Amino acid sequence: MAGTCIVGAYNTQFGSFIQKNKETGEITDTKSIYQLMDEAIRGAVEDSGMAPEEIDAIWVGSFAPALFTNQDHIGPYALESYPEAFRFKPAQRVEGACASSSMAILNAIYGIESGRYKTVLVVGVEKMNLLKSAGVTHALAGASFWPTEGGTGMTFPGLFAEYAKGYQKKYGFGDEQLRRMLASAGALMYRNGVLNPLAHFGKGGPSDKYQLFTADAIMGLPEEKNPVVAAPLRLHDCSLVTDGAAALVISRTDIAMARKDAVVEFAGLGHTTERMAIADRENMHELIAAKKAVAQAFGEAGISSKDLKAVEVHDCFTINQLLCTEALGLSEDGGAGRDYVAGRFSPGDACPVNLSGGLKAKGHPVGATGASMHVLLYKQMLGKPIGAARAAGVPDVTATLNVGGSAVTNSVTVLRRIK
Ligand code: COA
Repeated sequence: MAGTCIVGAYNTQFGSFIQKNKETGEITDTKSIYQLMDEAIRGAVEDSGMAPEEIDAIWVGSFAPALFTNQDHIGPYALESYPEAFRFKPAQRVEGACASSSMAILNAIYGIESGRYKTVLVVGVEKMNLLKSAGVTHALAGASFWPTEGGTGMTFPGLFAEYAKGYQKKYGFGDEQLRRMLASAGALMYRNGVLNPLAHFGKGGPSDKYQLFTADAIMGLPEEKNPVVAAPLRLHDCSLVTDGAAALVISRTDIAMARKDAVVEFAGLGHTTERMAIADRENMHELIAAKKAVAQAFGEAGISSKDLKAVEVHDCFTINQLLCTEALGLSEDGGAGRDYVAGRFSPGDACPVNLSGGLKAKGHPVGATGASMHVLLYKQMLGKPIGAARAAGVPDVTATLNVGGSAVTNSVTVLRRIK
């Protein structure tokens, strides 16, 4: 089976790219889904040093472009970045909720592994902010099991609140104890985020303005500045509603070795699916399916968690940052909260978590998130970090853990620098 490598990568600025008329409430788009996609695609192809003609096929990860922007069938739009070179090439959209672009990456890799393609393009994109809050919540709820969850008023903060309650019950944590654990995880993301020039909550943003860089600072906010969204989760436990795109060019390993001075390979892949409704799951205190995806990816790469030098995990809610940290084996079960309180996983740690600022600070344009995790880790592994860097040196083995829905779709990749 052919090995596969990242040969080009690009991440757009993440943020809320709209203008709101204060009097009428009318929303104007200041950076469209089309502009975001185009910027990411051109950026990745230019970064790869390959000619657009060399791209054999294109995968676009996007969760709900029709609900957010009225544009379904977004896959073919990728052609417009290089109409002459891309016209008539296969292009398709992949949907896997918040793991849409990780699903696109896996399918693109399978395309190379099958022997059909040599070099492929993956782009992840979501333009969320044209909708008001209620519309965003409704669109996201479509990734739950509608009959018993979204359709009965359950929201994503509500679904992950169930994990938070399960975690608290299983390990007997007090309310304040859990709150501090979650706030410690969030504060680390805010500290990393202000160093990332592409972050939604970056330098000069809300977390910087209010200096939310410690658990105490977050916990000391007045109630109205950090209200309960779905108990026990508060506003600052939730990821951001973000517009953005990220893209990768992926090639067969022999091509990458011949063409690039530095090469990062996909060393291991894991993909598992959990039952869709949380009512059908036991163990609401751990990510069972994600743990199985980790075992697959680590087995394929021949590594253990001790080999990891940096990871990007799916902190859609601070509780999920803890659960992902445990799923990757970086903390023992029930131990991640204490580890975050103790200051672990910062850029000074042996294995920093979310140097990018994660979904909490970099932002979470859902369909772009998986691709973005890979772009930022790839840059770290080349020694060209965007934002915070690992203090103990350039990481040579890293992993992503991206989940879709209420931890239903689980993708794990292990990346290894091989040149
Ligand atoms: N974290 C921290 N601050 C946030 C925030 C978040 N997630 N979302 C909004 N804010 C801040 C805004 O900056 C604004 O601050 P200001 O008053 O100082 O200007 C304030 O909160 C109000 O912003 P608004 O956009 O009106 O918030 P909202 O109530 O519409 O949205 C959430 C808040 C939590 C509902 C929204 O961020 C959300 O849905 N997040 C989760 C997204 C999600 O579920 N993704 C999929 C995960 S699987």
